[in-house]
Amino acid sequence: QTDIPRIRDVVTEFPVGAAITAAETLGVHGELLARHFTSVTPGNALKWDATEPAENSFSYAQADPLIAYAKANDLAVRGHTLVWHNQTPAWVFTDAAGAPMTATAENRALLLARLENHIRNVAAHYGDDIATWDVVNEVIDESQPDGMRRSTWYAVTRLDYIRTAFTVAREVAPHAKLIINDYNTNVPAKRDALFNLVAKLRAEGIPIDGVGHQVHINIGWPTVAETEAMLQKFVPLGVTQQITEMDVSIYRDNSESFPAPPADRLLAQAYVYRDMLALFRRHAGEITSVTLWGLADDNTWLDTFPVTRKDAPLLFDTMLQAKPAYWGVVDPSRIT
Ligand code: G3I
Repeated sequence: QTDIPRIRDVVTEFPVGAAITAAETLGVHGELLARHFTSVTPGNALKWDATEPAENSFSYAQADPLIAYAKANDLAVRGHTLVWHNQTPAWVFTDAAGAPMTATAENRALLLARLENHIRNVAAHYGDDIATWDVVNEVIDESQPDGMRRSTWYAVTRLDYIRTAFTVAREVAPHAKLIINDYNTNVPAKRDALFNLVAKLRAEGIPIDGVGHQVHINIGWPTVAETEAMLQKFVPLGVTQQITEMDVSIYRDNSESFPAPPADRLLAQAYVYRDMLALFRRHAGEITSVTLWGLADDNTWLDTFPVTRKDAPLLFDTMLQAKPAYWGVVDPSRIT
């Protein structure tokens, strides 16, 4: 469909992006992407398991073509992600004797040295081609007394892995926006734990530029008011805010499953996109990027997680045709 408005011509307050694979830069997917979007996030290609599968052996085979495409088409790139507890090879958390790391001073030094080496190499490889980095991903667990996820990173270094990651990223990529990214940040306890961490680290001088809200939501949750409270919480910190991984599941809970998306769910989804985009545009002073976690419904992580069933969380369908959700973003008067 080349006769419908480009998202990029309608939503001009901030870059609008999609998470993609290298394959999605080719053919009709690549055409759709460049037509509508102004930013991309490699969905997996910049994660540790892709970029440093073995110690000090770096591979950019997945990410380089994708980033070359972005440059050629004048799309901003969000780098995702330098530090995570998932998709990180086992060697990272293995001690000098080849055993799983425990919390010792020696392991702390080893793990922080591996982290520093990783960021120095990956961030330097791309330089200013990556405008924004999700420096750390999903470090909060609001069920813990201190609000911190009990990962190996945390067990071995406490908060030092976060301090090191941001400090080194700033040094190597001085022009990039440095983001701390997490999901369910609309949940007050999680939001507040994230706020407290960012406030504490920024007071120490750790260069955290902004907060990334993933916004993996569904047609019944959360409300616009809850989402607005999420944004307002961080305003006093003076950080930038980005919507980093938005999608809107057509399912209300894990028990549901449809062979194909029912029309009423697609309509409900269009209204969620309409209301959320209107909210984000009202907050354009705080928000500097909105990214969807996928280009079209033919490739979405929600088809396999949390359960295997066909979901349809994005703006274009499995045949790359505009859905009611697309009109929710571009022109709500045309939602049908
Ligand atoms: O690369 C292998 C391939 O060789 C193998 O044949 C295939 C068979 O299962 O698996 C492939 O790896 C998969 C990888 O995606 C690439 O497709 C993994 O199994 C699969 O677990 C992985 O899922 C990714 C997920 O993160 C796992 O951590 C999703 O694509 C990716 O969209 C998702 O993204 C995360 C964000 O990074 C952080 N926030 C949540 C978001 C959604 O889970």
